[in-house]
Amino acid sequence: MQMSRREALTAGGLGILGIGGLAVPLGAGLQAKAISRLATRNMPVPYAASFIRPPVLPYATLRDAEGPYRLYTVTEQRSMARIVNGLDTPVYAYNGSVPGPMVRVPQGTRVKLRVRNQLPELHPAFGHRFNTSTHLHGSASLPQYDGYADDVTHPGDYKDYWYPNWQPARTLWYHDHNVHTTAQNAYSGLAAQYHLTDAAEQELLPQGVYDVPITISDAMFAADGSLAYDDNSHSGLWGDVILVNGRPWPVMQVKPKIYRFRVLNASIARSVRLRLSNAAPLVIVATDGGLMPKAQPVVEYRHAGAERYEFLIDFSAYPPGTTIDLKNVSNPNNVDYDHTNKVMRFQVVAESALPPDGAESRTISRMPSTLVPSEAMGLTESMATGKVNLRLMRSDVTNEFQISGKTWHDVEDSNFQDVITVARPDQVQVWEIENRSGGWFHPLHIHLVDFKILSRNGKPAFAWEQGPKDVVYIGEDETVRLAMRFTLNKGGGTSTNAGGRYMIHCHNLPHEDHDMMQQFAVGEVNVNDPISSAPCQPDTGEYDDGSYDDVPDGT
Ligand code: C2O
Ligand code: CU
Repeated sequence: MQMSRREALTAGGLGILGIGGLAVPLGAGLQAKAISRLATRNMPVPYAASFIRPPVLPYATLRDAEGPYRLYTVTEQRSMARIVNGLDTPVYAYNGSVPGPMVRVPQGTRVKLRVRNQLPELHPAFGHRFNTSTHLHGSASLPQYDGYADDVTHPGDYKDYWYPNWQPARTLWYHDHNVHTTAQNAYSGLAAQYHLTDAAEQELLPQGVYDVPITISDAMFAADGSLAYDDNSHSGLWGDVILVNGRPWPVMQVKPKIYRFRVLNASIARSVRLRLSNAAPLVIVATDGGLMPKAQPVVEYRHAGAERYEFLIDFSAYPPGTTIDLKNVSNPNNVDYDHTNKVMRFQVVAESALPPDGAESRTISRMPSTLVPSEAMGLTESMATGKVNLRLMRSDVTNEFQISGKTWHDVEDSNFQDVITVARPDQVQVWEIENRSGGWFHPLHIHLVDFKILSRNGKPAFAWEQGPKDVVYIGEDETVRLAMRFTLNKGGGTSTNAGGRYMIHCHNLPHEDHDMMQQFAVGEVNVNDPISSAPCQPDTGEYDDGSYDDVPDGT
């Protein structure tokens, strides 16, 4: 294979890549490795694949002593995906599906998600023990159903997770959270969207075919088409192939109407800065925790791993045949390749060129402006009765990423007792988090809560962040202040409602795994033990024949 100009430049030095600003250099292997080894004929090219939507996961409605609930089942298993040209890529995914099977559930519906680990004992390519722990990111779940990193399900076992779904509508996602291998497991395919719906969102925003899940990720491939992995000494993995719902740079046909896109950045390290090729506005309407008080039109915005932004694009003014590209103009401290500045293409077609809308499909004719308030966005500094200060850093001694000098190993060594704070139920706290490094950005995720970004470097949060959040992009030399209320679980299972321990970590997953993770508690430290109170079970496969322990609803 011939070296492209970019590879030649890359081999010449980091500065060419625009990552010269690193306080500490990325791993020495960076130039040579963080790029696919595919032959030219196998390398995907932009805008050749067609866009696909994820499958929707089916469910059974059952009933227990607390009432009806939905039972969803996913099996973590190996399968082959066709991502690059002419070669199969082994993936390890929920039901073997990339993109992952999507859950859609109305607010107020109890859900039991049964996760069966049918993975090999060891990851065939990366070698680690293939335990899993499933986190529904964006849900105020009880600690034992929250994907606590050390609450593992082994190959051959299964675990039932209860999700309460009492929160306002939002785009969530479930992904693996296994201790120290979250990055490899999510990268291998264990990630999927989960939509919680409600009346406000249905009233204000497009539905059905006009409501489009977009999961962005990046990957690098070995010559045989398998996923390659290099996290540059835990700094991060930057692939040269951008995937949208598992397809490289796909093309989506759209009618000349307003569409809603639920954008999840599921990259394990890369952040993107999204922009349309014609600089038309992306009208941001929802953030991690759901609808914003007001729609925020932006020309471009910054989007790190695990953040969810929903935006509207109005295609109504464009004649059929128009193409508009969703571009990535990138952010500091990412590694970019020839085509990482592209994400996907929209091709406007005549209304008659696509199937007629089904009954569930509905769009809007004008961009909305006022949306809905939320508990998080109503928080003010003066409501706070507690304060936490955190520093995000990297130790040159241990080569580990840390939160205020501590790591998840410290939590493990404390027998999981070490907490950064014990919040009272319903208490409001202000957290100030600082990243003094010019060399990294850290998307910080706080489990359980929705928060409001009060300020960044003393200034207001960016326009696109003016909604409830659970991940905050803490860029180079940035300090953010957050306000959050520690509201406890309002149901969805049989456990007590007394709180317990929840994780907080960087969502650059190689950072999280090495070892930028801590925990806090709400109420009491030692209730709802996340490891022992709802452990995994041996999977005998009994329920495969429909012999559920609970009876179908309506009998
Ligand atoms: Cu999306 Cu603690 O994770
Ligand atoms: Cu980080």
